[in-house]
Amino acid sequence: MRYDPSFYAGAAVHYRSGRPPYSARLEALLAGELGLDGGGRLLDVGCGPGSLTVRLARLFRDAVGLDPDPAMIIEGRRAAAELGLQNISWIQATAEELPAAAPGPYRLVTFGQSFYWTDEVLVAEAVYDMVEPGGALVLVGHQAEGRAVPPGPGPPRIPHDEIRELVLKYLGSTSRAGQGSAPVQALSLEDALAGSRFGAPRVIFAPGIPDRVQDIDGVLSNYFSMSFAAPHLFGDRAGEFAGELRALLSGRSPAGLFWDWPGDTKVLVARK
Ligand SMILES: C[S@@+](CC[C@H](N)C(=O)[O-])C[C@H]1O[C@@H](n2cnc3c(N)ncnc32)[C@H](O)[C@@H]1O
Repeated sequence: MRYDPSFYAGAAVHYRSGRPPYSARLEALLAGELGLDGGGRLLDVGCGPGSLTVRLARLFRDAVGLDPDPAMIIEGRRAAAELGLQNISWIQATAEELPAAAPGPYRLVTFGQSFYWTDEVLVAEAVYDMVEPGGALVLVGHQAEGRAVPPGPGPPRIPHDEIRELVLKYLGSTSRAGQGSAPVQALSLEDALAGSRFGAPRVIFAPGIPDRVQDIDGVLSNYFSMSFAAPHLFGDRAGEFAGELRALLSGRSPAGLFWDWPGDTKVLVARK
């Protein structure tokens, strides 16, 4: 689908506090799977606020975070500065502008919940030519469906079904993204990769963070960080939505705390 700069308008400032991190075992999994040794280069496409970039940069000599949204890049730079990481450069571009926007070679090219935003097979083909022999394209995301739910830390789970009903009340029944509707995934991620020269990926799961607890502000940020509930979509009713969501959450947890288990981390590894 064609990139629309308003997909995540107003969302970037909510992203780092609102979104649950990927598995604590992700770095070890990728290092073991791909034999990462601190050399080579990483390209993280659709990097957002650097969620993956800053975690993986230490496994490489240099890293590049690429995203078309300038507010996301600002957040990525901030995250890297907070961690004292100096080997990351940030590029504002879409995946469809590869390879010119961030020429290879790379040992690893990652997409954290961002591949489905792109022209998948075309982008995978471009990446194939940018990856060094033995390197890989890796897709990372959360998956709760079909995964064993771990014991929780105590607070109730985030009432996602009720919150989605509330979003629907404000924004209508068609899931929104930017000025239009959310992308419809014609192919599964696995099939999109299988349709490229990479071929079918290896699918690996790493245990999700089992005990993350969010307060009401955190849950609100989680929703405002999503393209389908980004602040701009509510226009001048954003405050009203936030107020209703706060009231809903207070009613579900008197302590104002919620268990945020996003599922396990699903990693698709496509080797060259
Ligand atoms: C769900 S966020 C993922 C952020 C981060 N990678 C993570 O794992 O949390 C999706 C990101 O993809 C970016 N994006 C959207 N369309 C894109 C495109 N055509 N090329 C590259 N990135 C894109 C958005 O700006 C957004 O930052």
